Amino acid sequence: MLATKQPILRRFWYPTVSIQELVSGPQPFELLGQKLVLWLNEAGKPVALADRCPHRSVPLSNDGAVVDGTIRCGYHGWRFNSEGACTYIPQSPDLTPSKRCRVESYHCTERYGYVWVCLDEPLADIPHIPEAFDSTYRLIPEYAEIWQCNAFRVTENALDVSHISFVHRKTFGDDQAPVAPMLQVNQLENGVELQGRVPVANDELQQKNLRIPDEKTLRIINIKWLMPCTFLLHFTYPNGLIHLIVGFATPVTDQSCYRIQFCLRNDTEADAPTEDVAAFDRSVGKEDRQMLESTDYDLPLNLREEHHMLLDKPGIMMRRQLAQLLKKHGEVEQRREIVYR
Ligand code: FES
Ligand SMILES: [Fe+2]
Repeated sequence: MLATKQPILRRFWYPTVSIQELVSGPQPFELLGQKLVLWLNEAGKPVALADRCPHRSVPLSNDGAVVDGTIRCGYHGWRFNSEGACTYIPQSPDLTPSKRCRVESYHCTERYGYVWVCLDEPLADIPHIPEAFDSTYRLIPEYAEIWQCNAFRVTENALDVSHISFVHRKTFGDDQAPVAPMLQVNQLENGVELQGRVPVANDELQQKNLRIPDEKTLRIINIKWLMPCTFLLHFTYPNGLIHLIVGFATPVTDQSCYRIQFCLRNDTEADAPTEDVAAFDRSVGKEDRQMLESTDYDLPLNLREEHHMLLDKPGIMMRRQLAQLLKKHGEVEQRREIVYR
């Protein structure tokens, strides 16, 4: 499936840059192939406009500046408001710009410290994460970067416990134990959930981060994929520590996604310093990235095209749900043209 060619995917909210990044001025972002400029208006609210000035086609993010609650084009200084209407042409200050002189504006809001954008009428709300509003949890930002792979390869990887022993053998996987335990898999209204107990290796850094001084430990896992590109990895350790990874794979193009991750924990800075917690998850993320960037960017929803094993059930359910979404909205899965040999 090629995300940029399935209009229904434009009807979901996606996280983009952090709200903090807009304080220094407008920033470009590409979402589902749509080039955007993101900026903060007078009320401090984020705004998403198409990143193309209607005067001479320059991206508004190219030397654009926020002036009096409008975005000013860097080329000739025309200004546009939060709705995308041209409000001022400095070379003709007394002229009221034509109503036709405008740029497309998109739904935009802030949640969890990130700017969320929806390119069409939203089909669903931004995923609700209760722990993010619970004062017994602390939020640790981990990373935000472009990965050169299909966003759905990333979300499927989050539902895949079979790769742990191999991809993560240097961090928490045990390559002597490739048979992952059977997990309980549940279909959600808008996603897939799996639950179970997964034995994991516990290296030196993790022993400190978890405050568990053993070489092996156990994770009680609850993993959720939420349509289309959110995943929540909820780990409970034997000492009661909860480490909830909140991950997003925002589709940028068909071949790339913006991989955002933070975690929520019910411990304190004195228990485990932010940098150490983030450093461990960062290493794990690098291992996934190294593998995922070598996958075919076109993830087929047709189950006959790639081979599967029993433990792939959650990923299969994800593919089926995406296929159902397309069918329900009268869309045909768009593929790149390739013949497998
Ligand atoms: S190109 Fe934007 S004002 Fe001229
Ligand atoms: Fe992984």
